[in-house]
Amino acid sequence: NYYAIIMAGGIGSRFWPISRTSHPKQFIDILGTGKTLIQQTYDRFLKVCPPENIYIVTNEIYSDLVKEQLPGITDQQVLTEPVMRNTAPCVAYGSFKIESLNPDAAIVVAPSDHLILDEAGFVSTIERSLQTATENDCLVTLGIKPSRPDTGYGYIQYTDQAINGDFHKVKTFTEKPSLEIAKTFIQSGDFLWNAGIFVWTAKAIVEAFNKHLPDMSEIFADARSVYNTDEEKPHIHTAYQRCTNISIDYGIMEKASNVYVLPSEFGWSDLGTWASIYQLAEKDYVGNAVIPSDKVIMYDSSNCMVNVPEGKLVIIKGLHDFIVVEDNNTLMISPRSEEQGVKQIVADVKQQF
Ligand code: GDD
Ligand code: MG
Repeated sequence: NYYAIIMAGGIGSRFWPISRTSHPKQFIDILGTGKTLIQQTYDRFLKVCPPENIYIVTNEIYSDLVKEQLPGITDQQVLTEPVMRNTAPCVAYGSFKIESLNPDAAIVVAPSDHLILDEAGFVSTIERSLQTATENDCLVTLGIKPSRPDTGYGYIQYTDQAINGDFHKVKTFTEKPSLEIAKTFIQSGDFLWNAGIFVWTAKAIVEAFNKHLPDMSEIFADARSVYNTDEEKPHIHTAYQRCTNISIDYGIMEKASNVYVLPSEFGWSDLGTWASIYQLAEKDYVGNAVIPSDKVIMYDSSNCMVNVPEGKLVIIKGLHDFIVVEDNNTLMISPRSEEQGVKQIVADVKQQF
């Protein structure tokens, strides 16, 4: 009865120019491991549930990329969206479809673009969560010990009341707080970061949608008779236009009451910025991380993150603490310390070109 929904329709603008609308982060082998992030995600879930129970929800423009990178997946398992409406409709589509096929399903919902170093730890965490969700018909989220007041995350305040050992009842869920508020959360000590990985029964999440996003609920409940038929795609593609643009975090998690958090540790990184990639990438003895390294020659340079197209001859001399990334005929060179600003740069550049 275990299922997985992989959310793979985001565009990852902080990784520009490598991650662009045409080729977002999840479809890239961003750490040079030989597998793209979505392939790694899929492989992890093969250890949790049968291959036919893994669903990918993505924009229709990425459906060929998904099939190319995950040859084991069938058409029925690639749920496509005609427009980007953030993660709430994405989760609703997957959950209502699974619920109509198997009302007793328990589902793990996960992003397609995270790195998880401790795979065995991850698999056992997910299995325990699926079991807890099944036994208690509740919503489970995984919490990560925060290390800084990052405003890009959801913050979970938990209580001492726990079920199944260490699944703590959630008191508040705050998606992407302001810096000021994030600082008070970090100081108070009883907050965790939301890893963005959720576990619940089909029944519990459908109920949550009914309660908190009833209009969206209706759209996907109305489609019950067409799931897994030839009608599914055209029906959903028309109906999807009516969905509000909202994330699962704002739409459901901030409002739901039967939420539990499992404090977790499995070498998680959401690879949110070039700095996080640099931290994790393999570096030479002077701290340069070069992906791929075949034709990049560095002289008198240190602590640089270099990511350029394969086969491109690149010579770098006397450069320290910089990011050098090129893709799609676009080259960006920027100090490593300022890479949080990439999102803004992309917005500016897009206006001009
Ligand atoms: N199918 C689909 N459609 N997928 C989407 C869409 C969409 O419209 N938008 C985003 N996604 C996918 C992304 O590809 C990613 O895998 C996942 O959903 C999460 O979306 P992000 O846009 O990366 O969310 P976030 O990083 O800002 O915030 C979430 O993750 C944080 C942890 O990394 C939230 O859940 C936060 O609370 C959490 O802390
Ligand atoms: Mg993310």
